[in-house]
Parts: sequence; C-alpha cells; structure tokens
Amino acid sequence: MEVTTAVIPAAGFGTRFLPVTKAQPKEMMPVLDKPTIQYVVEEAVAAGIDDLLIITGRGKQAIERHFDKSYELEHELRRSGKDERLDRVQHIADIADIHYIRQKERNGLGDAVLYARKHVGDEPFALLLGDTIVQSERSCTARLVEAAEGCESAMVSLEEVPWEDVPAYGVADIESTASSDRQSFPVADFVEKPSQEAAPSNLAITGRYVLPPEIFQTLEATEPGVGGELQLTDAIRKLDHVRGLPLEGDRFDIGTLIDWLEANVEMALEHDEGEMNTAVRDVLQAQLETDG
Ligand code: UTP
Repeated sequence: MEVTTAVIPAAGFGTRFLPVTKAQPKEMMPVLDKPTIQYVVEEAVAAGIDDLLIITGRGKQAIERHFDKSYELEHELRRSGKDERLDRVQHIADIADIHYIRQKERNGLGDAVLYARKHVGDEPFALLLGDTIVQSERSCTARLVEAAEGCESAMVSLEEVPWEDVPAYGVADIESTASSDRQSFPVADFVEKPSQEAAPSNLAITGRYVLPPEIFQTLEATEPGVGGELQLTDAIRKLDHVRGLPLEGDRFDIGTLIDWLEANVEMALEHDEGEMNTAVRDVLQAQLETDG
C-alpha cells in the first residue's frame, strides 16, 4: 500500500504546559530555532509524503501563519542581502501542500482524526501527533510507511518506557517481539493507561502511526472513553490487524515542560553549529563545577 497523505492533529488545549499555552499553540513551542510542528512536518516530508492535513482549532492561527508565504519578510531579507535567512523562510512556505481543517470542539484525539476522513478518502495514511518530536537518523514515519508496505496491518510506533511511567501511556499487549521481517511484530491488544501491575508490557504508543481507512468506521462506532474523549487507541484496538514497530531515536512530548527542556538541551548538544553546542556545554560544565 502506498501512503501519500499525512494527518497531523494539533487542536489540543495543551493544559499540561500552562500558562505558556494559554495564548499560543503548544505545537508552536520552539525547540532551538524551529517550532515543534515544523519538525513534525519535516519528518512526514522525509517519508516522501507531500500532502499534509493539519487539524487545527480555536487559537491555532499561528500554525497557518508559520507555513504561509510571507511576502514582506521575504522582500526585506532579499533587499538587505540576507540570503541564507531568506532561503530558510522560503523553505518553510514551500515544504509541502499543507491543508487545514478545524476541529470544532476538543473531543479527543480520535475525534480529531475523524475530521481527516474526507481528505484521506479510501487510502491508508500516516498520523503524526503535532506536539511530538522524534529525532532519529531515519524519519520515524518513513520506517513506519516502509514496514506497512505489503501488509494490510495498521502500524504503530512503540517505545520501551520505564515501568513506572506506563500509567501515562497506551501500552501494547504482545505475544512476542520476534517477527518474520525482524522489525515489526503483531499486537494483540492495547491497554490505555494501565497500572504498573496490570500493564501487559512497557511498550508504549509514541504518537506515530500508519492507519488503514477502516479506522474511520471504527472511530464512528466507538463510544467516548477516558475523560469523556473519543480515544484513538480504543478504535485501533478494534482493527483486525495491528503491528508494532520499535521506535528508533529519541522522542520528546513537547506538551510537557520536562520533555521540552530535554529536547532543547539534547538537540543543542548535537547541533552542528558549534556556538549553540558550546553555550550549553559551558552552562552544564559551570553547574558541575559549582556542585563540586
Ligand atoms: P494530548 O493528549 O497531549 O492532549 O494530545 P492535549 O489536550 O493537547 O494536551 P493536555 O493533555 O491538555 O496537556 C495529543 C495530540 O493530539 C492533539 C493535540 O493537539 C496533540 O498534538 N489533539 C488532542 C487534538 O487535535 N484534538 C483533541 O481533541 C485532543
């Protein structure tokens, strides 16, 4: 199956990151010099996908503005000979065909995905949460798309998390991680936010999926779950074939202060611009010396 469309839900409230998310979308929180959602869009594009649908909502206009062409800014950068900055600004506007639809009420991730039905049609599609960055050598979505090719399964990216953290996640119930293609493996079921004792594994859903179009019928037939919201995981559980693919690289849930901080520090340390790298190292070194 060929995957040509990516859906990026970005309509959530972001209450875990208040007050910074009171008047700006969490998906626009910067990690180094780019907003979170730009990393997400670039990951989809790196998977060969150039048709993107972003699910937005009230107060999310900054996302559309970010990917829009900015004539005045481009004119000014051109006029002042700032070519490198001009290239970066033009790249954002030309990155892909980006479409938008507004989720009218925040009724959960499953409800947000349902808004993509008309745009996606009868094809499989990639789903990337707009507040989650995956830093890896190869685009996480590219790996999922490749793994999904030739099999009719939904493909869900899974990450081993510390056991004490499983109550915060949807967790996979698997028979074995051994698989014929040595990459993905069948998932029998998912358990949403289990207690540590009841968790069937510590393999957590990470916010990257390839889903078949049947997910829309399944979502429509699903009742609201935890928190009165339509839960995507509840609908995925009802699909006939679901496989898990282990995540490679680092995942950051930018909806939380700690992950946002970690993302900035780790990515600054890895950045090829020496200046950024050195600045963080100096701060960390000075702190270590103070701590003795
Ligand atoms: P979260 O589970 O982080 O929910 O959403 P949230 O409401 O945004 O954040 P908190 O829990 O209040 O801090 C995961 C992704 O799904 C989108 C979010 O924008 C985020 O990218 N989402 C969530 C929607 O698009 N619509 C919703 O109704 C809920």
